[in-house]
Amino acid sequence: MMSAKKRIALIGFMGTGKTTVGKALSDATGRDFIDTDSLIEKRAGKSIPRIFSEDGEKSFRELESKVVREVCGLESVIISFGGGVLLDPSNASEIAENTTVVLLRSSVDTVISRTSSHNTRPLLDATTQPLEERVKALLVDREMLYTDAMDLAVDTDSMSVGEVVAEIIRRLNL
Ligand code: S3P
Repeated sequence: MMSAKKRIALIGFMGTGKTTVGKALSDATGRDFIDTDSLIEKRAGKSIPRIFSEDGEKSFRELESKVVREVCGLESVIISFGGGVLLDPSNASEIAENTTVVLLRSSVDTVISRTSSHNTRPLLDATTQPLEERVKALLVDREMLYTDAMDLAVDTDSMSVGEVVAEIIRRLNL
């Protein structure tokens, strides 16, 4: 059985609902919630689009790795990570340590409908490629990283936030 003491990490592609589900899971379980993208913005003193445009993706990834080391020292918390966090293998091994990793999955159409109106995701916004192609190309690069890291996966397409939360609680015995 999966231990309730472990940290719970929510991973998955942009637009799969990691932050929304993380907050709701935190409300339902009373565990603290941390969103690494918000923490990165706090540390940098600027938004993620500005970090990307002013300092570049490399600089964002360095900040992200620092935040990963920071939050992976905390016990029992729920953490939602940015969709690209596993690109750095040392992040992936930090996250694997004493953590139950929940992968949220959605279809390409759902990802597009959830992300297209926001302008907060430089990897999808600052591209000349049609969005669908872009999402598919990134997914191909990342699918294996997500699958290798996960302990359990939830397909969120036809589920409400409450249903996703209930499913995680049930499957982790929280
Ligand atoms: C990224 C995902 C974003 C954010 C940044 C890069 C990625 O987080 O960390 O824009 O590489 O997939 P969300 O998955 O929360 O959108």
